[in-house]
Amino acid sequence: MSVAEQSIVGAEDRSPGFLDSSVGRKVVMAITGVVLFGFVTVHMLGNLTSYMGAEAMNHYAEFLHTMIHGMGIWVFRAVMLTAVALHSWAALSLTLSNRAARPVGYRAQQRQAATWASRTMRWSGVILGIFIIFHLLHLTTGSVHPSFIKGDAYHNFVTGFQVPAVAAFYILAQLCLGLHMWHGVWSFTQTLGLVHPRYNGLRRNFATVLTILVVGVNISYPVAVLTGFIH
Ligand code: HEM
Repeated sequence: MSVAEQSIVGAEDRSPGFLDSSVGRKVVMAITGVVLFGFVTVHMLGNLTSYMGAEAMNHYAEFLHTMIHGMGIWVFRAVMLTAVALHSWAALSLTLSNRAARPVGYRAQQRQAATWASRTMRWSGVILGIFIIFHLLHLTTGSVHPSFIKGDAYHNFVTGFQVPAVAAFYILAQLCLGLHMWHGVWSFTQTLGLVHPRYNGLRRNFATVLTILVVGVNISYPVAVLTGFIH
């Protein structure tokens, strides 16, 4: 067989690509997870302007909408949409291939632990997806907001959280974000190879501190409005 014929046969019979492997999809999950985690942290810090009053928060929102001649927010939106889509795709396809490949007889305890973590990730991820859609309709487009004023982020924020059911849903979503982030940071440090027992305490503490910080501050926003601290 000539070299050309051999390479054609080789191309037809190619081995699975990087994204076909579970390691490849885990890397996609980890990279997009870091991007989303970075956004959530910066967003949480940006919303601290609400504690400084209407002018500070509206100034900040205006900056987001006008940076790089108004292009910045669209670049940001494209990156976020891509990250969310890839993250969800990798999660779904890993779940499906894990299910297909699950061995029948391995130890019950191992199976229980793995299933609890992945089940938590799945339902907290789904609730977060629903939350993000609601959140965009609530505070970005105003479609489900009782008194939305375009360009007045502070007014939308305060009047939005004055509705107790809405504030409660935000709090519930932040608790799901906490579970999701905690497991996410934990698995990410595992993907990085920090699996030695010596690092486990450090990994656990790192995941816990980050999660409590982001979730605690995010929950403080609806609570501050409901208690009248921000009005
Ligand atoms: C209690 C917690 C949160 C508060 C108070 C909050 C507040 C806000 C506000 C006021 C806006 C509108 C800014 C503007 O355009 O004027 C916004 C937009 C947004 N938020 Fe949040 N947010 C919270 C949590 C989250 C979380 C957990 C996520 C993601 C998981 C998220 C994702 C977004 C996105 C994607 C936008 C749209 C940005 C754009 O215009 O494209 N937010 N948020």
